[in-house]
Amino acid sequence: MEILQSNTDHYFYSEDDFGRTELTPSYRVDLRNPMNEHLDKFINANLVSDWSQLTWKEVGKPYEVKTVAKEKREWENENGPMSVKKSWEFFNRSFHEWFVKDVPKEISKAKQKAWRYLSRFQMSEVKKALGETLRLSLWNYAHRIEDGIWDPRGKRALFEGLDVNRPRILFLGAAEGYEAMQLYAMYPGGEVVLVDYDEFCRTDRFGTFPESYPFLGTNPATGQPKVWYKDQMNIHYIVDDIRNLPFGKEFDIVISVGLLEHFPDEHKPEVLDWHRRFLKPGGYVIMTTPRYQLKSLLFYKIMADVMNHTYRELMDIRQMGLYVYEGGFEILRHGFIKVHNGIVARPR
Ligand SMILES: C[S@@+](CC[C@H](N)C(=O)[O-])C[C@H]1O[C@@H](n2cnc3c(N)ncnc32)[C@H](O)[C@@H]1O
Repeated sequence: MEILQSNTDHYFYSEDDFGRTELTPSYRVDLRNPMNEHLDKFINANLVSDWSQLTWKEVGKPYEVKTVAKEKREWENENGPMSVKKSWEFFNRSFHEWFVKDVPKEISKAKQKAWRYLSRFQMSEVKKALGETLRLSLWNYAHRIEDGIWDPRGKRALFEGLDVNRPRILFLGAAEGYEAMQLYAMYPGGEVVLVDYDEFCRTDRFGTFPESYPFLGTNPATGQPKVWYKDQMNIHYIVDDIRNLPFGKEFDIVISVGLLEHFPDEHKPEVLDWHRRFLKPGGYVIMTTPRYQLKSLLFYKIMADVMNHTYRELMDIRQMGLYVYEGGFEILRHGFIKVHNGIVARPR
């Protein structure tokens, strides 16, 4: 995408709105803490001072989420095992539907439905409508109220303090590309390359990502905080398998968000190698994976039909760090944001 600045009708927020947070029907707008001086949203875990001393015996292996989405089970009953790529295609379509919902409206519709069925004693329909109400309420809390999925404050705290200038940023398994847009806003003027082998991610997940969503970042002219929008950023989207990328070691930052935990142990070294392969000397690798915590266990259980199309693990920061360390990286920072572990690393 070229940098366009002609149509500014959707630039609803500006520097005058710093300090504000607001709920739209589908997501939270959060312009609090523009100077990023409160780094409290990224908890530096500092749990491990010497990764070479940590062993799998001490930390144990991650928890595997085993509940499978109904549509995947049904598809496999008819067609046999689903390929990994196809399971991502199912996941992306299913997950995307939730980001575009008018959540309060959907909750009230689902509740009305439950009452209607109850008045007719259609108990199995009541059960379905209550299930939908529960999922919507959980989504409302997790994404819209808590902002746990995008988590701009946590992500900004995790991305803070990188020594880069107009970086080229590569996002592996980019989906809608949120985190690379956040990085671009903080370190503007370079280029973002989003990579995902599911075309739907380019056309819909990224394509329909709200143009009016404000990212808090930096004004390169003044060094002061500034609001950025998607269409002001220099973004290219490649639809291909990461294994086919033509790049050399040319990126200042290589990032993935929720990728590593989708590969069983025998494939993790390859995934870690993807992060090293395209990185300039001195560049940064940033990775996050979902945390092993009670609320995540509940989330993946209740949202199983929405989320569970692919192999998935939940891990703690020590387990994640050990994979990253054994993959040949020096860990510069490790900690937690709202629902993910976060690591900033460099090849050793
Ligand atoms: C769990 S998603 C990343 C999380 C993302 N933030 C989200 O909200 O869905 C992982 C993405 O990686 C993509 N992906 C997985 N393996 C890939 C590969 N080998 N090449 C390209 N994309 C891949 C999937 O299509 C999927 O969109």
